This record gives sequence, C-alpha cells and structure tokens, in this order.
Amino acid sequence: MKNLKILIVDDELGIRTGIRRGLKNLRVSFPFLENDFEYDLIDTETGEEAIEIIEKEKVDIVLLDNKLPGIEGIEVLEHIKKKKYDLAVMMITSYASIDLAVKATNNGAFNFMPKPFTRQELIAAVENITKHLYLKRMTEKMKKSDRKIRFQFLSVLSHELKSPINAVEGYLQIMNEKQVGNNIASYEKMINRSLERIKSMRNLIMDMLDLTKIESGEKNRNIRQIDIIQIARIAIDSIEPLVKQKNIKVNTKFPDEFITKVDASEIEIIFNNLLSNAVKYNKDDGELFFSIEKINNKIQIIVEDTGIGMSEKEKSNLFKEFMRAKNKKTRNITGTGLGLSILKKIIDINKGNIKVESELDKGSKFIVNLNL
Ligand SMILES: Nc1ncnc2c1ncn2[C@@H]1O[C@H](COP(=O)(O)OP(=O)(O)OP(=O)(O)O)[C@@H](O)[C@H]1O
Ligand SMILES: [Mg+2]
Repeated sequence: MKNLKILIVDDELGIRTGIRRGLKNLRVSFPFLENDFEYDLIDTETGEEAIEIIEKEKVDIVLLDNKLPGIEGIEVLEHIKKKKYDLAVMMITSYASIDLAVKATNNGAFNFMPKPFTRQELIAAVENITKHLYLKRMTEKMKKSDRKIRFQFLSVLSHELKSPINAVEGYLQIMNEKQVGNNIASYEKMINRSLERIKSMRNLIMDMLDLTKIESGEKNRNIRQIDIIQIARIAIDSIEPLVKQKNIKVNTKFPDEFITKVDASEIEIIFNNLLSNAVKYNKDDGELFFSIEKINNKIQIIVEDTGIGMSEKEKSNLFKEFMRAKNKKTRNITGTGLGLSILKKIIDINKGNIKVESELDKGSKFIVNLNL
C-alpha cells in the first residue's frame, strides 16, 4: 500500500468538506500493480497557503480551484511548473471556460473538472490522476536507471579495454620495428601475450553481450537432454592453467553421468563463473571442491574454495553488476564484476537459488540449486 498526499485548494468550505467526504477511505488499485494507493488529505482556502504547503511538504496531487481570494489558481499552477515539483494538478472550477482550460493545460495541469461534480466523477478523476502520476514517475525512474547502467557499461568497457589494447599495440610496434631482430622466435612471448590479451577482451565483450541479451529477454534458450558432468569436465579443463600456476588442489565429487534437460550454455556459464572465481580468489597452494549431486528433485552444485573470502558487506552486494571487492588482496586480480550477476540471472531463469557462505581469509562456498 502506498499513500499519496492530496492538497485541496478551494475557498468554499462546502467544496473542501465535500471532497474530503467523497475521498474518505478511498483505495485505488490497478491490475498492473501489487500495491493499492490510499490518500492523505489536506486543504487550504488560498493560493498563497497552497504554495507554502507545497514548498514544505511532499504533495502528490493538487485539486485546484481557479477563483481564489488572493492569487488565482492558474498562478499557483505557474509556480508549480516553474519549480518543477513532482506532482499532478487537476483544476476544479465553476467558471470553466475553454480559455482557462487551454491556459491550465499549457501550464501542465493534468485535467479539468467542472463544478458541481458527483462523488463518482471525483473518484474517477482521482483514479485517473493517480495512474498518470504513477506512470510518469515510473518512466522517469526507468530513464534514470537506464542511463546509469549504460554509463556503467561504457565506462567499464572502455576502462577494461584500454590496457589490453595498449599492451597489444606496444607488442605490435616492437615487432613492426623488428626491435629484437629478424628471428620470429624472439617474438614468441609477445605474440602469446597478445593472444591472451585478445582472448580476455573477447571474453569481456561476450559477457556484456550475454548480460544484455538476458536482460532484454532476447537470449534464445536451447533446452535438451544433456550430460552436465561432461560440461563440468570441460569447465575444469578451462581453469587448468591458473590452477597449475597457483598450485591448487582440485577435488571433485560427481556421479559418472547426470543427464537432464537444461540449456548447455547456461550450465556452462554457471560452472565457469563459480570455478573461475574459486581459483582467482584462492590462495597459492589452496584447495577447490566441486560437487554435483541430485538431491530430491534438484541439481545441487557446490563450489567451495580456501581463498580470501568476503566480508558481510561484500557478500550482500555480490550479485550486483560491476561489484568487485576492493582491497589489498583483490588489487592484482582482474575481472569485470559481471560474472556473478550473469550467473544470478541465469539461476533466476531456471527458477533456482544460490546461497553463499564465506569467511574472510578462510574461503567461500557457493551452493546452487536448480529444479529438475
Ligand atoms: N570465491 C570467491 N572468493 C572471494 N571473493 C569472491 C569470490 N567470488 C567472487 N568474489 C568477489 O565478488 C566479486 C564479483 O565476482 P564476479 O565473478 O561477479 O566478478 P569478477 O570475478 O570480478 O569478474 P568476472 O566478470 O571476470 O567474473 C569479485 O570481484 C570478488 O570481489
Ligand atoms: Mg568472476
């Protein structure tokens, strides 16, 4: 339930009490909304006082008479427009003329209600203005968050692409100028490094594409019977280089085969992200546990590490886009902070859930349940 504040501005006591009576205990609901709206009412006789109230309090809807003792309703409307208050105004007046209606609408009044009106007309008008206000506010909110996400996307993308582009460019220049001689073998290390950087750029771009596709509902799902243990083994292969480098012991507990109806690429993303984190954020000579099990009617996937762990605060933001823990231990670990947010969206599509247990300096455990 949400409360909206209605300010009634009319110099006639009869109208003010009439509106109060008409809107008493009014509840408005829309099929597209979970919450009902209820209304708090305040009233005043003059335009001057109306402006004072609007400046002090958060008013949502103004029912505004035009003919008032001091300044006119239309001037109150002009003030509201000038100050860009986030509220909706409906004019109520017995001197309804086309002229005034045009002027009021030009100044941003949402609607016009001629006096006298019935209770039914009043309620219908308030329902209407509530819907208008709600949709207007939602649109504003969406525009803002859209822009924010787009900005974050672009800044992360450009930031993350800058250093590999510089590196590859540097290597190519060295080769172009044949700085270490004519023997191609002398450049092998640079070529390999360049290839690695290009691979990580491609991964970043793919991650961002995945996320955009999932978010816009455009990701095609290809659900069929497959053995997820095979996917698990491929995922383990792909972390092999870093596992070797950090000397991590990988322990697995799988059935020989686990055939189920899923989208292979979604399962791949889940495994890859959990495993890559469990290696990246592990300590040298640490351990990694990876198990897949059928429990009741669920697939339970557990990935546990003996790494740096997370604080409560880091844990609570874990699935947000671009979230990366920033501290001494993570400073030299690269990533975009997108992996887990993609994973979470995929788990949601599969109507599953994910739990995280983590202790700083001890390690982290991710438990994923997917319905069969
Ligand atoms: N197993 C883990 N142990 C400790 N911290 C972790 C672990 N997994 C994730 N985190 C923290 O959560 C953050 C978000 O993880 P996420 O996988 O989304 O992004 P990332 O690993 O930084 O980048 P990428 O998009 O390349 O996966 C990480 O930056 C890290 O701070
Ligand atoms: Mg990651």
